[in-house]
Amino acid sequence: MRRITVIPGDGIGGEVTKEALETLNVFGLSLEFDILGCINADTFLNTGIAMSEADFGRIRASSSALFGAIGDPRVRSPEYARSVLLRLRQELELYVNERPARLLDHRLSPLRDDLSRRIDCVIVRENTEGLYAGIGGSLRENTPQEMTVDADVSTYLGVSRIMEYAFSIARRGVCMVDKANAVRFGGKLWQRCWAEATSQHPEVPGSHLYVDVAAMKLVSNPSEFDVIVTNNSYGDILSDITAEVAGGLGAAASANLNPDTGFGLFEPVHGSAPDIAGTGVANPIGAILSSALMLRQLGYATEADAVRKAVESAVAARNCTPDLGGRLSTKQAGAAVRAALV
Ligand code: NAI
Ligand code: MG
Repeated sequence: MRRITVIPGDGIGGEVTKEALETLNVFGLSLEFDILGCINADTFLNTGIAMSEADFGRIRASSSALFGAIGDPRVRSPEYARSVLLRLRQELELYVNERPARLLDHRLSPLRDDLSRRIDCVIVRENTEGLYAGIGGSLRENTPQEMTVDADVSTYLGVSRIMEYAFSIARRGVCMVDKANAVRFGGKLWQRCWAEATSQHPEVPGSHLYVDVAAMKLVSNPSEFDVIVTNNSYGDILSDITAEVAGGLGAAASANLNPDTGFGLFEPVHGSAPDIAGTGVANPIGAILSSALMLRQLGYATEADAVRKAVESAVAARNCTPDLGGRLSTKQAGAAVRAALV
């Protein structure tokens, strides 16, 4: 029996992870779900600590984790996310953030041109360094002379291993995205690691784009991309573009992985969506497809494919939530996916 820790979190996090769990339960696999329902904004507001050391230990000792979303309008402090999701990514060294984007249904593409709609790419985002590393400081806070610095951290180890992972999953090629024409020091390091990575993988076509051009091309001709490897913040932003081009943010899935230990934390790309929390319209597909990524990681490839196919057929029949052009509630949309599982 493998133990999966489940962190529903805030807002729609709980609503969508519930549907993902019910979908996993259909297969009767030997998975045990350990639900950590206290890691949320209420706990943070009441105690100042969102994730206890005991909870952290339980997650670390589990086979995989399924995550909903965290974020609450009552909590303004960035310390909250930093103490939960960013901490898990850092301390479990989940250095790969893999975000696949594959067109869910033709009707959902915002693009005019039929041929360029067929997006099927993966963003491989460096997940532990960059601007989100939390290194920096401020001077003369809350005065007109305030000065702040957030260091954009790149290490040789971090950059070379994320590139290695990108090559390991490439099907048609790898495109490295940076801004080396404007970011002097980190840019140089990314370029050097890229030259090394491409020379180690001569059989895989490699290309390079600056992030602004990459953003443009992801809208004008997304079908030209296979794997895109980039830093933490560019990956965060570009993956919202690919999510939208593939069908919508509510349907986008992601995996936070440590390829060395095999541990993965799986979560939808979207946040806690406080604007729709509790209204029953949250799309559960991002969470359901994230659980399919977990199935694949745990060695259940057939079941993972079956979930993907069931999602596609439910969406094609418009058995989905309003954001994807359907009329179903979160629960009904989850049930529609399960009904389509053969
Ligand atoms: P968001 O992703 O929560 O929402 C953006 C927009 O997309 C909203 O209009 C929302 O209603 C819609 N949306 C998101 N997920 C949806 C779904 N499953 N079905 C239908 N519509 C959906 O991003 P936002 O509003 O910037 O952030 C809200 C909170 O979530 C903030 O506290 C933020 O910090 C947090 N957040 C947490 C993340 C995480 O836990 N990984 C990731 C992104 C944001
Ligand atoms: Mg984001």
